[in-house]
Amino acid sequence: MNQTSLADKVAIVTGGARGIGLAICQRLKADGARVAVWDINIDGCDVHHLGFAPDYVQQVDVSSLGSIEQAFANTVETLGRVDILVNNAGINGPIAPCWEYPVEAWERVLAVDLNSVFYGCRVAVPHMRKHGGGRIINVASVAGKEGVQFISGYSAAKAGVIAFTKAAAKELAKDNVLINCVAPAMVETELFAEMSAEHIQASKAKIPMGRFLQADEVGAMVSWIASPACSFTTGFTFDLTGGRATY
Ligand SMILES: NC(=O)c1ccc[n+]([C@@H]2O[C@H](COP(=O)([O-])OP(=O)(O)OC[C@H]3O[C@@H](n4cnc5c(N)ncnc54)[C@H](O)[C@@H]3O)[C@@H](O)[C@H]2O)c1
Repeated sequence: MNQTSLADKVAIVTGGARGIGLAICQRLKADGARVAVWDINIDGCDVHHLGFAPDYVQQVDVSSLGSIEQAFANTVETLGRVDILVNNAGINGPIAPCWEYPVEAWERVLAVDLNSVFYGCRVAVPHMRKHGGGRIINVASVAGKEGVQFISGYSAAKAGVIAFTKAAAKELAKDNVLINCVAPAMVETELFAEMSAEHIQASKAKIPMGRFLQADEVGAMVSWIASPACSFTTGFTFDLTGGRATY
């Protein structure tokens, strides 16, 4: 096996039914892993829609510990083990100044974007420690580093993901469970169709490479972090911003 092969590995990707999560699933599968797609919406999650044959599909709400516990038990029962957990599912929440940000929306954004990462680790880590190791990759955002105006809930949640990852990594460093983040900038998706040309241009202007991120570039980085080739890095936040982030 070469060092970037994921042969014999089993991976869970939350929010894997579309967008960045789907691109991560496709890449993990192409690199040899068996892939469990977890999502709150699994309508039409078949080979035709996903572009690859999932090894398991599980409906789950990642904001619920009970839902994650059940989904994890079902996945282990079906696929035998779990080596890789990608905590990717997330929502943006509203666009509003913090003093007008709806309280219920704040709680939902924190639940889906941050609590989910804690719950996923709480459930997966004992299994990984018992089986000799594992890899956890949390999808944060450059918003968690910079703090982006009018998305304070999202920014706070993603900053929380980055700090949680650092803390957990130290706790797990001797257990062969490596936990890292990726921090993407804006990805070019179908959502762009809903944005004004001015907004898209202003966003692009922040990126020194002068273009947006592609979802398959996130998949490639996540797959490498999940592979044996990434062996001495834990608690780190890998950059995917085309030069925008300065730390
Ligand atoms: N798109 C970007 O520009 C961008 C930039 C930086 C970070 N991110 C992060 O990348 C991740 C994926 O974003 P995306 O752009 O692919 O989003 P998306 O909306 O296209 O996909 C998110 C997926 O998560 C699922 N999901 C939502 N809530 C869920 C829940 N409670 N339980 C289970 N599944 C749930 C959705 O059904 C969907 O399939 C998110 O964490 C997001 O914050 C995205």
